[in-house]
Amino acid sequence: MIELEQVSFRYQNEASHVLENINLTIEHGEWVAIVGRNGSGKSTLAKLLNGLCLATSGVVRVNQTVLTDESKHQARHYIGMVFQNPENQFVGTTVADDVAFGLENLAVPRETMIKRIDQSLEQVDMTIYKDHEPSRLSGGQKQRVALASVLAMQPEVIVLDEATSMLDPIGKKQVLSLIQELQEQLGVTVIMVTHDLNEAALADRVITLDEGTVWFDGKPRELLEKGDQLHEVGLEPPFVTKVYQQLTRQSIDITQEPLHYEELVDELWRLYLKT
Ligand SMILES: Nc1ncnc2c1ncn2[C@@H]1O[C@H](COP(=O)(O)OP(=O)(O)OP(=O)(O)O)[C@@H](O)[C@H]1O
Ligand SMILES: [Mg+2]
Repeated sequence: MIELEQVSFRYQNEASHVLENINLTIEHGEWVAIVGRNGSGKSTLAKLLNGLCLATSGVVRVNQTVLTDESKHQARHYIGMVFQNPENQFVGTTVADDVAFGLENLAVPRETMIKRIDQSLEQVDMTIYKDHEPSRLSGGQKQRVALASVLAMQPEVIVLDEATSMLDPIGKKQVLSLIQELQEQLGVTVIMVTHDLNEAALADRVITLDEGTVWFDGKPRELLEKGDQLHEVGLEPPFVTKVYQQLTRQSIDITQEPLHYEELVDELWRLYLKT
């Protein structure tokens, strides 16, 4: 679906590269989390995937088409992107208009359009704000609308750049389970930039960037097993990892490193029942 070959990127008029020699293949239906400290190049990488930034050297391929100034518009039919800052994303005068905008560009018939607007606003719990002005919404509400706009377009790939950072815990959970549903049931490819390793642990694969290069690319469990090394790349081990580390330090034996709260609780029960 997405291939990066020896990709480097430098912003115009800047001396140094922000991304250097990135090689990546992301398959159809994968859920990939991208993590790394501030400034490590996550958003730039996300922008390379839909042609908002074009590689300075190397090749980005989406559905076998090399992304260029000419082909990037085509790529946007497959790839929906929710940015870090939803303020920059609004074009409509009402929430519904805003969601409609992308669909108009895709020349979706009016009736389908109305259905998709209603459905996507429902999915992000924003139906009652349909006729509101986007600029007057709260930060989290704006993120929900930005997400609805992308969902309505039913893209094959969804790129979320810290798209849940302003959501309350319940909203975050809702969005994550919605994403999971889209991935599992419709085979949507999900690429999610996040600072939350708990969130990243939900993905099939985590890519960790450090100073514009890939520091780690693999299963979330393998990343968490790095324990204190995570600090080197500006990541905070999640709570379950810390509990696991404390237990092992005290020679309390847990069969495998837990990835989520549920797994930790299972392990703790097992220990408790043994005593
Ligand atoms: N438009 C731009 N022009 C010049 N330099 C830029 C531009 N946008 C980003 N940069 C620089 O590129 C580097 C990577 O930025 P990027 O936004 O990709 O990081 P990030 O990993 O998304 O960080 P964060 O976690 O803060 O969102 C930073 O050093 C940043 O200062
Ligand atoms: Mg960013």
